[in-house]
Parts: sequence; structure tokens; C-alpha cells
Amino acid sequence: MARICIHGIGYVGVVSAACLAKDGHDVVAIDVDPGKVDSINAGKAPIVENGLEELVKAGVESGRLRATLDIEDAINSTDISFVCVGTPSASDGSVGLKYVTAVCEQIGSAIANKSTYHSVIIRSTIVPGSMNEVCIPALELASGMTAGKDFGVGYYPEFLRESTAIEDYYDPGLIVFGSMDKPTEAALYAVNDGLPCECHSVSISTAEMIKYTSNCWRAVKVSFANEIGNIAKASNVDGQEVMSILCSDTKVNISPYFMRPGFAFGGSCLPKDVRALRHLAGTKDVPSPMLDAVLEANKYQIQKAETLVDGLDGKKVGMVGVSFKPGTDDLRESPLAELAARLISKGYDVNIYDPNVSTAFGEEMSAAGRGNDVVPDLQARLVPAISTLIDDSEILLVGNKYDEAIEPLIAASETRPMLDLMRVNPNKSSQGSYEGICW
Ligand SMILES: NC(=O)c1ccc[n+]([C@@H]2O[C@H](COP(=O)([O-])OP(=O)(O)OC[C@H]3O[C@@H](n4cnc5c(N)ncnc54)[C@H](O)[C@@H]3O)[C@@H](O)[C@H]2O)c1
Repeated sequence: MARICIHGIGYVGVVSAACLAKDGHDVVAIDVDPGKVDSINAGKAPIVENGLEELVKAGVESGRLRATLDIEDAINSTDISFVCVGTPSASDGSVGLKYVTAVCEQIGSAIANKSTYHSVIIRSTIVPGSMNEVCIPALELASGMTAGKDFGVGYYPEFLRESTAIEDYYDPGLIVFGSMDKPTEAALYAVNDGLPCECHSVSISTAEMIKYTSNCWRAVKVSFANEIGNIAKASNVDGQEVMSILCSDTKVNISPYFMRPGFAFGGSCLPKDVRALRHLAGTKDVPSPMLDAVLEANKYQIQKAETLVDGLDGKKVGMVGVSFKPGTDDLRESPLAELAARLISKGYDVNIYDPNVSTAFGEEMSAAGRGNDVVPDLQARLVPAISTLIDDSEILLVGNKYDEAIEPLIAASETRPMLDLMRVNPNKSSQGSYEGICW
């Protein structure tokens, strides 16, 4: 069992302290507020939260939970610190790091006088880069020691929901952490041992980003459901019934499907249907800021790809895929066709490998090329073999994934500039002249 110090007896701190004590760890909670410290030591919860009062009382009675105002006492009686202080918004909307910074300085000074290894693990919500740019420098400056070598560092975000916090602690939806050193990583695996959830050990910045992604996704879901509810009500439809039935589709709607960062959406349905629902909302005087933003965001993704091509060396572009997705020749509102058209209009010489569009033209299908009203001379730009496309291009632009093209493209990504919109090699990230749109 571990000896853990919890910095900050707020919602996150006190729930973690009480649950860790219940799990058998020795916990010392520290706060600058004497009222909270007294409350814990008296076996009382300083906040209202289902089941917390009993856990705090049991923890204190067992001798495994106590609180203090004294940082030296807290650090010297433990081996691991969990920092759970608040990060309220600063006046410009940025994350407020003043409490986290102050705690890091205090911990740094305290561990400077300690002979045994101490791991400092931040649990507060902080934007990517905060650990490397703020927390670690503050700890190193105050301690005079090197992070990851003389003391441990980790970032371990908390995902609990107030009102079901203890339930969430024992049955989490997500456990993720990043660490600089093996002892800290091992400690994080150990405190989560036995919980019914996979532990994801990632880089510190990835863990920071995942916490914000999770909260922003929750916020997006609420606003989306509300906007659909508003439009539904204005159309005499029950919005709750709509969303509840939508959510019963766990194959596509509530699933990882459509949740993979990459290129813009297109095709014959999504763009026109988003436009139509926005229009309907407008006719009923219901604002639709979420749907407006969806179309804006989609346009931006096409613009982003265009800008990334501009940043690569060369004028001869070999495009892999022009239809709106790989298993079809459908060109209607294909964002790849839009991107090709923009590049051509800027003077790029664009050739295209798209086996499905080529088949449609080759077999003189009646719908061949239909839906393309943006790419000039489409048929003449089509190249039959992926090897020919690669050989004749200065820049490769990968839009759709075709099995036969994967290996040649992975090899080609080593030899010429590539903008990859779908991640031909799942293990490759932007580096040198290889540019992944979101990785
Ligand atoms: N509340 C939630 O549901 C929730 C869930 C997940 C993550 N978070 C994140 O966790 C962090 C903590 O949130 P919270 O709601 O528990 O905060 P809170 O404001 O309830 O508590 C923070 C505590 O830290 C104490 N504190 C401030 N400076 C200190 C110092 N130098 N030393 C010791 N204690 C100090 C404060 O007195 C306060 O008691 C935030 O970053 C928050 O975004 C919150």
C-alpha cells in the first residue's frame, strides 16, 4: 500500500483521499483552508457528496486518513503527492495555473530537504504543455533537483462527476496517465490496480489533452442535444424521444464511428442534410449555432489541407482518392474533389489515382464522373496504377485508403513529400516532409 499526500481538499481531493484510504493506502490531505483540515480530522466531509461522510469517518477512524496545514509534515510522511487544487479560468479565459504553480513551488521546497524519492502527480485539469512549461520548471527551480531523475513526475487527470463521484471512482469510464519515470508510472498502475477499467499510459501532453477532449466532448453533446431538442420542439416533435432513439444506435451513432480525426466530411447526405436542418431551424426562428459551426469547421478542414500542400515542396501533386470515401465512385460534394479543384486553380498539376472512379469511366458506366462539378478534366487526370502516380509526382496527397496502395505509399512517404489525410501508416506522425493532417 502506498503513502499518498493529497494537495487540495476540494471535490476531487477529498473524494480521492477518502477512497484511497478505503483502499488501504495511508493518506495525508493538505489544504490552506484550516476549516477543511479540521473537518477531515473530525471525521466529517467538508462538502456534500453521496456516501462521502461515511468514507471520511471510516478513513479517519482507521488511522489511514488525516489532514494537515503543514507541507513538510505532509511530504515527509508520504512518497507520492496528488495535486488536486483548483484551476479556475483566468480573466482572458486561459487556464488559471496560480494555485497549481504555488503548490509545485511548495512541494519543490519540501522535497529539497527529503532524502527519499517522491513522485509529484498533478490531477488538476491543465492544458497541454502546462506540465512541461509550468509545473516541472516550478518543481525543479524550488527543489534544485532534476525531474524524472531526482524526483518523479506524472499527470493523471480525474474524470469524476460530482454527485456520483464515489461510484465513478470505483467504476471509472476512463483511466489515463503520463509519467516521466518508471517509479511514478508503477505507482499509478498500482493505485488503479483492481479497478474495472483499462489503464492507458501515454505521454504527459497526451494525458493533458485527453482531459480537455473529454470535457469538451461532454459539452458538445449537451449543446448538440439541446439544439436538436429546440428544433424538434419548434417542429412539434418531442426532442427527448428523438435523442433517446438516436442513442439506441450503438453501431454508428454512439460508437467510435465518425470519431477519427482526419479530413472533412462530404458525400450526398451529410452536407445537404445539415444545410436542410439549419434552414428548417431558420424558418422557425430557432438559432442553430452548433449546426452552423459544423459546416464552418468542415470548410476549415479543407482549407487546412490546402495550406499544408502549399507548405510542401513541388507543383506536381499525385492524389490518392477523389471520391468522397474509398468504397465508392460517388463524387457528390466530395471534399477531396473540392481540394483538387482548389489546387488546380492555383496552378498545381494534379493527377489522381482512384480505382473506383477509373472503373466507372473505363466501363463507361452511365453515372461515371457524375457529381463532379468542380474538378476540370477529371477523366484525363486519372492514373491507372498507384506506382505510376507515385513515380510521376513531386507531392503525394493521400485522401482515401485503398488496400493495394498502402504498402507503396508507406514506402513513398520516405522518399517524397506527403500530405496524409487518412494515416496510411498508423505508426507514423508528422516529421520532416511527411505531414499528417491531425497527427
Ligand atoms: N469538481 C469536479 O467535478 C472535477 C472533476 C474532474 C476534475 N476536476 C479538476 O480538478 C481540480 C480541482 O477541482 P475541485 O473542484 O476539486 O477544486 P476545489 O476548488 O473544490 O478545491 C481546491 C482546493 O484546493 C485548495 N488549495 C488551494 N491552494 C492550495 C495549496 N497551495 N495547497 C493546498 N491546497 C490548496 C483550496 O483551498 C481548495 O480547498 C480542477 O483543476 C478541476 O478542473 C474537477
